[in-house]
Amino acid sequence: MARLDRLLANLGYGSRREVQAMVARGQVVLDGAALKDAGARVPVAADLPQRMTVAGRPVDPPAPLTLMMHKPLDVVCSHREAGRSVYELLPGRWRARTPGLSTIGRLDKDTTGLLLITDDGPFLHRVISPRSHVPKRYLATLDRPLEGHEAAAFASGTLMLDGETAPLAPAVLEPLDARRAHLTITEGRYHQVRRMFAAVGNHVVALHRDRIGGLALPDDLEPGAWRILTPAEQAGLFG
Ligand code: URA
Repeated sequence: MARLDRLLANLGYGSRREVQAMVARGQVVLDGAALKDAGARVPVAADLPQRMTVAGRPVDPPAPLTLMMHKPLDVVCSHREAGRSVYELLPGRWRARTPGLSTIGRLDKDTTGLLLITDDGPFLHRVISPRSHVPKRYLATLDRPLEGHEAAAFASGTLMLDGETAPLAPAVLEPLDARRAHLTITEGRYHQVRRMFAAVGNHVVALHRDRIGGLALPDDLEPGAWRILTPAEQAGLFG
């Protein structure tokens, strides 16, 4: 249960005072009846948008909220980096949510594919923790043909990236054709996939993440599109 005015303020509908004014105007409806008291306690569960409307529209999903997005090219994953960010692809009001939404790890501006976004701190940490070993699979398109030695180098557990002091954990390379391969990694170091191919003398010209753990990027999720993850999909990540 949560206080109605605090709940709606935390969902980005306005200050507590603005929310109180909306309630006074009868704009907040629960189970078909307008709520009159902004201090009322309301049940907060994933089905709230089916039960509550604000100004005639289903209320935004409450926390905890986890989304998957098909990250398009040329958007960044950080609020601080210059350029259009993935957060701008979400409803504007969501930028005022508390707790705020963050990406689970990052994809480079010129990487596309499966990106998770959540306001659930423990879930975020569980996905990115090295101890969880959640594999991430990338489709890399290369500048030069594979030479045949790369899979062993990536699997060795001894490959060292430029400027680093600890070797990379073993990774799995599955060539698809001369210039395209799936690479599955369990870590998330800075520009890791691009730097791995650079370490074996190649260059990544396009990079796309198509899988995180048991979750594949759905074919029908277009670049720039997103949807809320179901609890089963969320659990399946670790499966
Ligand atoms: N590795 C990279 O080099 N870039 C990404 O965006 C993700 C993994």
